[in-house]
Amino acid sequence: MTLVDDARFRQVLGRYPTGVSVITSREPDGTPVSMVVGTFTAVSLQPPLVGFLPDHGSTSWPRIRATGRFAVSVLAADQQDVCRMIVAKHPGRFDLLEWADSPSGCPLLVGAAAWVDCVIESVQAAGDHDVVLGRVLDLDAGPTSSGPLVFLGGAYAEATPTL
Ligand SMILES: Cc1cc2nc3c(=O)[nH]c(=O)nc-3n(C[C@H](O)[C@H](O)[C@H](O)COP(=O)(O)O)c2cc1C
Repeated sequence: MTLVDDARFRQVLGRYPTGVSVITSREPDGTPVSMVVGTFTAVSLQPPLVGFLPDHGSTSWPRIRATGRFAVSVLAADQQDVCRMIVAKHPGRFDLLEWADSPSGCPLLVGAAAWVDCVIESVQAAGDHDVVLGRVLDLDAGPTSSGPLVFLGGAYAEATPTL
């Protein structure tokens, strides 16, 4: 068996570009919870499923999991500051950020490239992460005209569609 070094794993797989999304929910007392992920992905059309992979070390994920639902805001290229504020756990971030409730009552970040509202369908442990599948309740594209925010090789970038 080959032993794969953590740094090499990160460096090599950092060559694979991802989008940047914010997973949110609201606790029963109304407190918003949020975490930034690069692992959000479409999974299935019939039934409509999406997924993401939270680290077992995340403090937000157990709180989101307990609500049984989540929303995804796919960040636009001009939302790098939003991303940094959430990753840095900026105190009072939900007072500073512009957001509105999804149909199921999860915070959606205004200006996102797209949003998806979900109920948690399944959670499967995979090494030091969970594989979370969400059943899509509703979704829409945002009004933004800029491209999506991209993360590649540890840096932020903008994807420019060639259509
Ligand atoms: C671009 C980017 C992508 C990330 N992707 C993930 C991810 O897919 N899963 C994850 O658990 N954390 C990911 N993180 C790290 C989390 O955002 C960070 O650990 C987060 O704040 C969760 O910690 P908390 O839940 O304790 O607040 C990512 C961070 C960045 C900047």
